[in-house]
Amino acid sequence: MCGIVGYIGNKSAATFLLDGLTKLEYRGYDSAGIAIFDGQNVFIEKAVGRLDALKEKLKGRTPEGVIGIGHTRWATHGRPSDQNAHPHTDCHGDFVVVHNGIIENFMPLKEQLIAKGHHFASETDTEVIPHLVEEFYRGDFAEAVRAVLNRIEGSYSLVFMSKKHPDTLICAKQDNPLVVGLGDGENFIASDIPAIINRTRRTYILNDGEVAIVKRDSVSITDRRGNAVDKKIFHVNWNAEAAEKGGYEHFMLKEINEQPKAVRDTMSKRVVKGGDRIVFDELNWTTEFLNGLDKVYIVACGTAYHAGLVGKFYIEKLARILVEVDLASEFRYRDPIVDDKTLVIVISQSGETSDTLAALKESKRRGAKTLAVTNVVGSSIAREAEQVVHTWAGPEIAVASTKAYTTQLILMFMLALYMAQLRSTVSEERSRELIGLLKKIPAQISETLSDVEPIKTFARRYGFNEDVFYIGRSLDYDVALEGALKLKEISYIHAEAYASGELKHGTLALIVEGVPVIALATQKSVYDKTISNIKEVKARDAIVIGIAADGDKEIEKVVDHVMFVPDTDELLIPLLTVVPLQLLAYYAAITRGCDVDKPRNLAKSVTVE
Ligand code: G6P
Repeated sequence: MCGIVGYIGNKSAATFLLDGLTKLEYRGYDSAGIAIFDGQNVFIEKAVGRLDALKEKLKGRTPEGVIGIGHTRWATHGRPSDQNAHPHTDCHGDFVVVHNGIIENFMPLKEQLIAKGHHFASETDTEVIPHLVEEFYRGDFAEAVRAVLNRIEGSYSLVFMSKKHPDTLICAKQDNPLVVGLGDGENFIASDIPAIINRTRRTYILNDGEVAIVKRDSVSITDRRGNAVDKKIFHVNWNAEAAEKGGYEHFMLKEINEQPKAVRDTMSKRVVKGGDRIVFDELNWTTEFLNGLDKVYIVACGTAYHAGLVGKFYIEKLARILVEVDLASEFRYRDPIVDDKTLVIVISQSGETSDTLAALKESKRRGAKTLAVTNVVGSSIAREAEQVVHTWAGPEIAVASTKAYTTQLILMFMLALYMAQLRSTVSEERSRELIGLLKKIPAQISETLSDVEPIKTFARRYGFNEDVFYIGRSLDYDVALEGALKLKEISYIHAEAYASGELKHGTLALIVEGVPVIALATQKSVYDKTISNIKEVKARDAIVIGIAADGDKEIEKVVDHVMFVPDTDELLIPLLTVVPLQLLAYYAAITRGCDVDKPRNLAKSVTVE
């Protein structure tokens, strides 16, 4: 996720670009840059860090100019740095590009371009794009852009500027948002409406495959082949704050709804075409390396720790390696049994959590191999670990983690399957079956998100209870822990998750008439046992809300209400069952009038011990 802007008109480009980027900083903030055509040359300035660093650099030397593009970055390929910040150019600085997304086939394209004599200045996937325009340009800017779009694979929103065509900006979209704002003698381009809402409310919201040729006084839209597209103007009637949240009331709800895309992005490039193998370009693991390990330690905090519990299940089940999971704050003081035969995987959305970072350093000190799973390229944890694999969730703003969790789950699943393939602990047939189901997960999450009315009803009905229990076995228990944490964090309801088999050892004493119990019952291998446990709490007059897979006929007979999720393999279903639990927590918090995005006493990134 990144933020992009473009301006062409009769006023200062720099003013709009910097204002627009400020509004888009929630989309990425590790570096920023602008390019402005001053009548003769293209002036480019970039700076690593927050947008303020760029503004500081520009003080007193902001160029005059009425056409320009800008970018605020959330790194995926290449660490945050001045060189990797956008805009990027071709060899001669004739074509300038900003990009939001991931170009999946950039490696072979880059190799071909280098072989033809192109020089690259960054580690980004994006830079192939201006070089490709240079390669295809024969005098017609739009034609060259279309030729490029037909060569690149992946997701993008793009804005192109050229010194040779100072009256034109071209933008295009595939799987990432892009809007063109229509002004009077000026037009605007942005990733998202907040960037333009102070200037105009008349917009074209571009669809996938559309290309817009934007001039001062006109905007024409075509498909990728150049055929004209007839587009209706969309009048924005949200206020600026709502626009930043994409029309959602809270960042948390927006981020819950971004999960299909976040999960799809995290899978991208790692599922080999043809669908029978998982690859991690970032890792150079071999069968010998994995066979030389005697255990894996997963260390994390909060929601990331819950993802680690699921990761343990995946690695043990698929790759048959012993996995310990620990809270970073415990691990670092435990005198852990960790040596050069241990692989320590730290999971951290922010990459900055102090306990996790300390646990990582301690593991290295003891000689362990280390791998970081993080959402932030260039974060302290990403820099400290020997190897890194990234989740591609984009910035998560709400304190309660949602899309980071599901992307951590999908990443741990792919990592486990990758390890299993190297160790030959899963058959090719099973592997193919799992990858087939994996690819359906983003659409199944969308399906789960499509009907929230029953969840709102439960939240209204039970949102004022003081205690809620979550039960489940196996992976259902791990998801129950995350569901209970979500409810605690944002609605302040006392919520506890228990392994269903443990109820009889104490917790059952707390189950009395009317207490809500959320029972997850998706793990087929322990299904009958789970149903018995549900009957135990029903016998104490608890109110049971079951979470089950579509097609489950038994569950309705034993619970008061059921929320169904699409059916899939029991290994993958946590990616679906967690969604109604996130929504339940969200709507319970709304019912109770809580500040969802900023819960009391909590912080997004905990950089203190
Ligand atoms: C804080 C956040 C949680 C998060 C935890 C670990 O407590 O509020 O949402 O799970 O830190 O953060 P990390 O960035 O390391 O995943």
